[in-house]
Amino acid sequence: MARPARLAASVLNADFARLGEDVARVEPYLDFLHMDVMDGHFVPNLSFGIPVIASLRRVSSLYFDCHLMVTNPTSLFGPVKEAGGDMVTIHIEVWPDPTGAAAHARSLGLDFGLVLNPPTPFGAVAPFLHLCDRLLVMSVNPGFGAQAFMSGVLDKVAEARKFIDSAALPTDIEIDGGITPETARLARRAGADSFVVGSALMRAPDPVKAAQDLRAAVKDG
Ligand code: DX5
Ligand code: ZN
Repeated sequence: MARPARLAASVLNADFARLGEDVARVEPYLDFLHMDVMDGHFVPNLSFGIPVIASLRRVSSLYFDCHLMVTNPTSLFGPVKEAGGDMVTIHIEVWPDPTGAAAHARSLGLDFGLVLNPPTPFGAVAPFLHLCDRLLVMSVNPGFGAQAFMSGVLDKVAEARKFIDSAALPTDIEIDGGITPETARLARRAGADSFVVGSALMRAPDPVKAAQDLRAAVKDG
């Protein structure tokens, strides 16, 4: 059974000159903030890193979910924690046995999660899900915001839902990439718990209305 739906903003496509104000405007409508850290190596783009997380920590009390799209994620765990991050998620594609990484995150007081790129099968993370607070299913190839949702990943969300429910794991299923009210509804039906929204929220003409529309879309019933 999916849990109550939770909504997060990705600040990747926000206007970085007014990041604090833009986050403050939508903060009351969000459950957490999703930080897309990129290294220009694991993904073909650079975004932002520790200083931006630390700056946002000073103006926001939201839970910070830090999506590390980098080749060497564990080296960032300590700095992310110091900057005020609450969770790190790392890609199974760069860390095929994340047992030690999960223990390292927990020893620092961070929550831990694994991420699957669209082509990566669910089986790659299944043996490690009991170590995870969250499974992040990418619905675009990571690196850029404002890409189209890949509906082929919905079967993988459903597979994860089934596995997590049958093993009675507390792992949250998060979906990230191309989320709009329409695609969020599809992902919710497939079993997603948490919804990361970048451009459809931070670039909307009326972000508050966009947040309300997204929330309505994933409401059960
Ligand atoms: C992509 C990032 C996503 C992205 C989402 O690499 O992981 O979090 O910012 O942005 P939208 O919602 O615009 O696809
Ligand atoms: Zn992300």
